[in-house]
Amino acid sequence: MSDNQKTATLSLPNNESLQLPVYEGTYGAPVIDIGDLNKSSVFTFDPGFRSTASCRSDITFIDGSNGILLHRGYPIEQLAESSEYLEVCYLLLNGELPNETQKQNFYDEVTHHTLVHEQLINFFNGFPRNAHPMAIMCGVVGALSAFYHDTLDIQNDEHRTNSALRLIAKMPTLAAMCYKYSVGHPFIYPRNDMSYAENFLNMMFSLPTFDYEPNPVLTQTMDKIFILHADHEQNASTSTVRLAGSSGANPFACIASGIAALWGPAHGGANEAVIHMLEAIEHPKNIPAFLKRAKDKDDPFRLMGFGHRVYKNFDPRAKIMRKSCHDVLQAVGVNDQLFDIALQLEDIALKDSYFLDRKLYPNVDFYSGIIMKAIGIPTNMFSVIFALSRTVGWVAHWNEMIGTPGQSISRPRQLYTGAAKRDFVPLNQR
Ligand code: CMC
Repeated sequence: MSDNQKTATLSLPNNESLQLPVYEGTYGAPVIDIGDLNKSSVFTFDPGFRSTASCRSDITFIDGSNGILLHRGYPIEQLAESSEYLEVCYLLLNGELPNETQKQNFYDEVTHHTLVHEQLINFFNGFPRNAHPMAIMCGVVGALSAFYHDTLDIQNDEHRTNSALRLIAKMPTLAAMCYKYSVGHPFIYPRNDMSYAENFLNMMFSLPTFDYEPNPVLTQTMDKIFILHADHEQNASTSTVRLAGSSGANPFACIASGIAALWGPAHGGANEAVIHMLEAIEHPKNIPAFLKRAKDKDDPFRLMGFGHRVYKNFDPRAKIMRKSCHDVLQAVGVNDQLFDIALQLEDIALKDSYFLDRKLYPNVDFYSGIIMKAIGIPTNMFSVIFALSRTVGWVAHWNEMIGTPGQSISRPRQLYTGAAKRDFVPLNQR
């Protein structure tokens, strides 16, 4: 440790004391490096990782107290306003915004990989028509590794880039296939003459008998939804991808593990849960009863789309989504009762001391579901779209981890609270 290295002193129960290095990042709270603690007789205990930085990362920064989200230094508001999803993908993967040529090459490369192997269609046929699309996504994304043996050497930069492109390119195709399968329609092949978002909507809503003509407001909003979900530093699914990847697992398997982690209602499943909640509220007059339930400790009900582990102020993505909600509802000419309920619920909750004291504000999922519903996307596809958008974040983090010198398998320890050592009891004596 150098002389000017900042340290924190830890006093241990055996009167030993340890000097632990303290590091400062570009922004954010300093971190205490406890990596050498295991050489003494203790570990740290932090279930839920509330106080633990699991890695160094250059990709995304969140200041939860001030509602700031930066990707490679660029504020999310500016990216959502002035950029496109594929440009943000390039930025997350490469660290810089692309110049004209880099952008063109990247778009061409992604477009080049949008088809999935015809053999993959057989996987879909194995699922019941009413399977949740996230169940299908977990399966088919993991199955991609069976088709791309040529790019599975994770120590090879070119292979890693190729896998990243394949994943980003194929997710919309697979996502739309899930939907088409559920409604019994034929799969629609990707179109290379369309933008990323337009192509996705086309694969969702076109039929061999009918050409879907996406409204430009809807296409732009879809692209914005992709941008707003593209990355969010070390959340549960990204940490899952890193953990799975730390063992050397291939990227398709790792992304499948991320999809599984995202599925839960506390994470990516929240946008679907918000719509179910708003439908259950049914009328603004019922809002107080639902707020009462959300505050009742004996009731597991939570206000879906409210609260965030990191944002203890507004979620900057939610602000952008709220505005897009108005634009989309206007574009499709819908006067959505659910949106009215959402606005009134937000208004009442933000005046309620329970939510104010706990710093529970609407998160991105509070509005994204209303928008997707207005676009015509069924609720069970919402988390699939989250997964599609987040794939670039997962891949960027996976790539960053594999490319970090000295990377090793992640292996947390535990505080054992089970039975003390005892002798086996034969069956006839139990
Ligand atoms: N409704 C009612 N009470 C809540 C809510 C809520 N949505 N969220 C947190 N609380 C209460 C919680 O009961 C606790 O109260 P107390 O201190 O009295 O015990 C306090 O607020 C702190 O909650 P916590 O569970 O310690 O907070 P957390 O950081 O572990 O949970 C969360 C964060 C997002 C899982 C949680 O707020 C939640 O379940 N929200 C609803 C689900 C949701 O909208 N998830 C989407 C997150 S954003 C998209 C993404 O990034 O995945």
